[in-house]
Amino acid sequence: MSRLGICVLGAGDMGRTHLGAWQTVPGAELVAVADIDPERAEAAKNEFNVGGCFTELAEALDQPGIDIASVCLPTHLHRTAAELAMRRGVHVLCEKPLAMTLDDGEAMIATARECGVKLALGFCKRFMGQTQRVRELVQSGALGRPVMYRVVSGVEIRFKPWIMDKHLGGGPLIDVACHYVDQWRVVFDSEPARVMAMGTTFSTGAPELPGIDPEIDTASVLVEFASGDMGLLSLSWGLPRGTRSPSQEDLMGRHGVIRFEGSTKLTVMKPGGEQQVFDELDRDMHPKQVAAFARAVRENGPVAASGEDGLAALRVSLAALESIRTGQARQLPQQ
Ligand SMILES: NC(=O)c1ccc[n+]([C@@H]2O[C@H](COP(=O)([O-])OP(=O)(O)OC[C@H]3O[C@@H](n4cnc5c(N)ncnc54)[C@H](O)[C@@H]3O)[C@@H](O)[C@H]2O)c1
Repeated sequence: MSRLGICVLGAGDMGRTHLGAWQTVPGAELVAVADIDPERAEAAKNEFNVGGCFTELAEALDQPGIDIASVCLPTHLHRTAAELAMRRGVHVLCEKPLAMTLDDGEAMIATARECGVKLALGFCKRFMGQTQRVRELVQSGALGRPVMYRVVSGVEIRFKPWIMDKHLGGGPLIDVACHYVDQWRVVFDSEPARVMAMGTTFSTGAPELPGIDPEIDTASVLVEFASGDMGLLSLSWGLPRGTRSPSQEDLMGRHGVIRFEGSTKLTVMKPGGEQQVFDELDRDMHPKQVAAFARAVRENGPVAASGEDGLAALRVSLAALESIRTGQARQLPQQ
């Protein structure tokens, strides 16, 4: 197994997740970790046995023998960090969402092409057993077509203020909606065609968010796909501390229902009340994601989720925000 030198940019929650995941890949050597917070960088270095820790991204990337960078920084920094790496000939696995704007996302894709390196997006849910099984069921016609895939959730104002900000993280419609748009694209094997949304900002003026300009945090978004399938996302990140609303994820079609239960189980409900249960589905998505990226780099093969996949999801997020602001449905260009 050829050696791969790894640099992880950001030592927050996802940086630590990537470090742990990279440790499971044979031949991967953790060369450097960077975080603006020196204590976090140092703690990550010690816990994951990384070669060196740095507070400057460029300094970390300048260490000898780096082949791959995991970009695990707040979203507004994705383009800068990814381009720093790619311009050094380093392949990039960038956490979702791709970027805050289409211009930034397109520039990242162009830089990867220009530098001859791979750019992959951290759409880790593609590696969940539930996503793969739901795709098989829908594609085999188990529910009939079209289907409606719903995701409903409501949580407290997020504990990382940057993620709620219009310019730093984009609130839930940028930050987390991309996971579901990606899942819909995978499961339907189709592209989004039309987006309608309504929303509001519960967290305006919240004392938990000093100095933050919160993006819309509460919305219902309906996405129609070219296949006729529909994705519905109804969520809030603006609930008061100490409260939450039950989550629900399901698919409905003329021949039945698929219900998600936890992160490892699916129940298919068929006509007449018959049920089929899929249990103990794989949820170990991050080790699988980095292993797949290592394989793509070593074998010069395709990545599991590309910059273009990130852009497709970002287009829907931005269209949803625009639909909320204008009160109009948005048609999406068919790529
Ligand atoms: N794949 C998933 O399911 C998933 C889950 C959570 C977050 N994410 C994404 O991962 C990214 C990181 O999120 P997180 O939850 O790890 O955030 P986090 O706030 O926990 O970590 C971000 C880290 O970046 C550091 N940082 C900030 N500015 C920096 C700079 N200029 N230079 C160096 N370090 C800097 C911070 O000190 C912090 O340690 C975001 O894009 C987020 O949307 C993905």
